[in-house]
Amino acid sequence: LTRDDRDLLLSRIRDVADYPKPGVMFKDITPLLADPEAFSALTDALAALCEKHGATKVVGLEARGFILAAPAAVRAGVGFIPVRKAGKLPGATLGQAYELEYGTAEIEVHAEDLGAGDRVLVIDDVLATGGTAEASLELIRRAGAQVAGVAVLLELGFLEGRSRLEPSLDGAPLEAL
Ligand code: PRP
Repeated sequence: LTRDDRDLLLSRIRDVADYPKPGVMFKDITPLLADPEAFSALTDALAALCEKHGATKVVGLEARGFILAAPAAVRAGVGFIPVRKAGKLPGATLGQAYELEYGTAEIEVHAEDLGAGDRVLVIDDVLATGGTAEASLELIRRAGAQVAGVAVLLELGFLEGRSRLEPSLDGAPLEAL
């Protein structure tokens, strides 16, 4: 990203206080999505990361990750694979549970979508605690594929997702635009 593009993207992310609950500052990317210049600059940057890290497939994490990952995959000329919340995919799936602040969640991928020979870049909008991204890396490895890296628009540094993710990255890059 150029400094101008970075400033443009930051100017199109809206902070919403006390959403979805008191004390949380929500990062709303809808203004960025509504601005074709900003969305295109972001798509270019994510597609460039696919190429830089030799990804042969892109995984997007439901739901906002889908919006960023799908156009980046098309632009980079690689396939897009959705990782969905449990119960949404019709075929044979691999599932991975992970811890939330309260309770657990589970994500799934179609088992046939990933396998040996694939190098996968995971794309999402925000890295917060890192729990979702960590679970996605487990899925990719269990499917027999290689992790090319994780790319996010925003990293919330104070939640220390990067250190949580480090063991599962196993040397692969975490790129926060
Ligand atoms: C948000 C965000 C990431 C995840 C980050 O998604 O889009 O996927 O949380 O949090 P973590 O690093 O603590 O795991 P959310 O679960 O709100 O789903 P949504 O995109 O469907 O709203």
